[in-house]
Amino acid sequence: MRVDEGETRLAAFGGSAAVPRELRSLPWPVVTEADRAAVLAVLGGDAMVSNVDGETAVSALEQRWAALCGAEHCVATSNGTTALALAFAALGIGPGDEVVVPALSFIASGLAPLHQMAVPVFADIDPVDFTLDAESAAALITPRTAAIMPVHLHGAPADMDAIGALARRHGLAVVEDAAQAHGARWRGRPVGSLGDAAAFSLQVTKNLPTCGEGGLLTLADADAAGRARMARQFGEVIEPGRDRDYVAHLLGWNHKMNAVQAAFALSQLDRFAEYERARQRNVTAFLARLAELPGLLVPTIAPDSKHAWHILRFRFDAEAMGVDGVTPESLRRALHRLLRAEGVPVSRYQVLTLPRQRVFTDRVGFGRGRPWSGAAPEPSAPVPVAESVVAGTLTLQKRHLHPEAGPALARYADGFEKVWRRLDLVARMAKVA
Ligand SMILES: Cc1ncc(COP(=O)(O)O)c(C=O)c1O
Repeated sequence: MRVDEGETRLAAFGGSAAVPRELRSLPWPVVTEADRAAVLAVLGGDAMVSNVDGETAVSALEQRWAALCGAEHCVATSNGTTALALAFAALGIGPGDEVVVPALSFIASGLAPLHQMAVPVFADIDPVDFTLDAESAAALITPRTAAIMPVHLHGAPADMDAIGALARRHGLAVVEDAAQAHGARWRGRPVGSLGDAAAFSLQVTKNLPTCGEGGLLTLADADAAGRARMARQFGEVIEPGRDRDYVAHLLGWNHKMNAVQAAFALSQLDRFAEYERARQRNVTAFLARLAELPGLLVPTIAPDSKHAWHILRFRFDAEAMGVDGVTPESLRRALHRLLRAEGVPVSRYQVLTLPRQRVFTDRVGFGRGRPWSGAAPEPSAPVPVAESVVAGTLTLQKRHLHPEAGPALARYADGFEKVWRRLDLVARMAKVA
């Protein structure tokens, strides 16, 4: 059969794009009548804040999330960043302490310790799953280290066996940043129950979204959960059946979750397992096709574990692609241009490693060098793996979250295959990029 030249010619060079426009951006979150009704029910009731008596949407969400994660306690918060900060506050981590954080993450992973006046110290990551490398973390431990924060980046669970062992050896708290990893599992155990505390984000682009901002903090210890609950609400103790007395018992903030956010998230939670199954199916089929392409390294899953597939990050092996004499940046730039022209909505996620962010390089903290003064005089340790991942990889975000993303993903795979048929052009472009 004669193949039409328009279909094989790359779109960047005048061919037709592999992905039709309507499949380049899929809606997320999926908002149903049930979600709308749940929000309206809150607006019609008298439980719009979390300090009212009895069961509220906020307390119902906390109970369901704790059960789902196999965690003892859950405290709902205004967002994932406040959930992380409250975790440190509840575990007594603050001024004079250091927290080991992976060098590749969203900025909030580095900011949250800082918000408690603790110093984040950045460790390198694993080159395959992009999560905290336990050996690199071990090399950074000092007498000031108080906690270690694995980030289950993109939905891949960090190596919690190695991190747990390291924490036990040095008596460190473990705070999981599970903002991107709802439903992920490490060796059969759900994230959110693998350390002392874990923070989830319900920000609208996440796998479990609310209609805006929200967070969930799970904790293992009852006293720490009590402190988190108080710190969330000005340091006060709110008890059922007792009038609020406005007495603050510890340093508190206003990090409460709104009942509208909770009701929307609860309604989404009713469909979470169904969406998650569809996502596993769609993403697995998509990655299986891409894995056939030489030098395209797709995300993988550790044995007996579950990836939440929040973000899909692709690595490129120039040698296996038969593309030599190019830098990782120029190869990534060429692929980015060619894939985007085909309508494959790949993008970058994080253009800087955390230690390169100005807030850390310039020590823009609370002024006059705080909280760093005297705590960490040396510059950050090098993080070559995180740097190379930032330089040489591309991601797919949000499009694959929709439960009916299968057909769009199939077209994206067509786009990849089309570009891979012209690796000669990729090489030429990468050499001049
Ligand atoms: C890894 C990670 N940590 C923390 C956060 C902070 O969550 P939020 O945006 O809800 O404050 C995010 C949000 O994107 C994240 O991706």
